[in-house]
Amino acid sequence: MNEEIQVVIAGESHIKYVQTILDTIEAAAKVRGTGIAKRSPEYIEQKMREGKSIIALCGGEFAGFCYIESWGNKQYVANSGLIVVEKFRGHGLAMRIKQKSFELSRQRFPDAKLFGLTSGAAVMKINTELGYVPVTFADLTDDEAFWRGCQGCVNYDILRRTDRKYCICTAMLYDPNRKKKNDNTK
Ligand SMILES: CC(C)(COP(=O)(O)OP(=O)(O)OC[C@H]1O[C@@H](n2cnc3c(N)ncnc32)[C@H](O)[C@@H]1OP(=O)(O)O)[C@@H](O)C(=O)NCCC(=O)NCCS
Repeated sequence: MNEEIQVVIAGESHIKYVQTILDTIEAAAKVRGTGIAKRSPEYIEQKMREGKSIIALCGGEFAGFCYIESWGNKQYVANSGLIVVEKFRGHGLAMRIKQKSFELSRQRFPDAKLFGLTSGAAVMKINTELGYVPVTFADLTDDEAFWRGCQGCVNYDILRRTDRKYCICTAMLYDPNRKKKNDNTK
């Protein structure tokens, strides 16, 4: 099945999928009963126009998505909104989407630290394979605009109560400088 699925950087021609993407994300969050950062159709559309999102399609059928955004004066890049349609799960599609998103992030923002917040085991596994390590929230961006994205999450009260130090999600970070240091010691 995987060979038939194209994983590409989304552009204007994919704007027609925006509502399907949002509906799929919302439905999945309800099933999991977990928190989610809500996004508007305009926001996702903008991501597509800016070449900052990845879409997976099986023929013309929507199969998966994720997007990237830079924060804190481009020092940090977050990979967010990962979703794979249920019938396409379990075949490595999320890995392919995240790999492409990783490459896009490294290409567009070569000096930035890449990070993500997740409560899902699959994403932790994928991030680990890409070279991310778990970190505390103190190691993430202090860009207020990023954290405002958590406001739509059902767990936001925890984040606020702990002064943004702890929440349900695990923070994972890929630091390109640390990677280089490791490479040099080889
Ligand atoms: C999480 C999600 C994106 C995974 O998509 P997928 O295409 O099935 O994932 P993959 O097949 O690429 O799996 C990647 C790895 O995670 C593992 N994995 C997949 N689903 C898992 C689960 N529910 N629990 C534990 N591990 C899981 C796979 O076994 C694989 O590991 P492996 O390479 O060692 O075999 C998909 O289930 C989804 O869209 N869920 C709802 C939305 C969501 O949770 N998004 C993430 C928000 S942070």
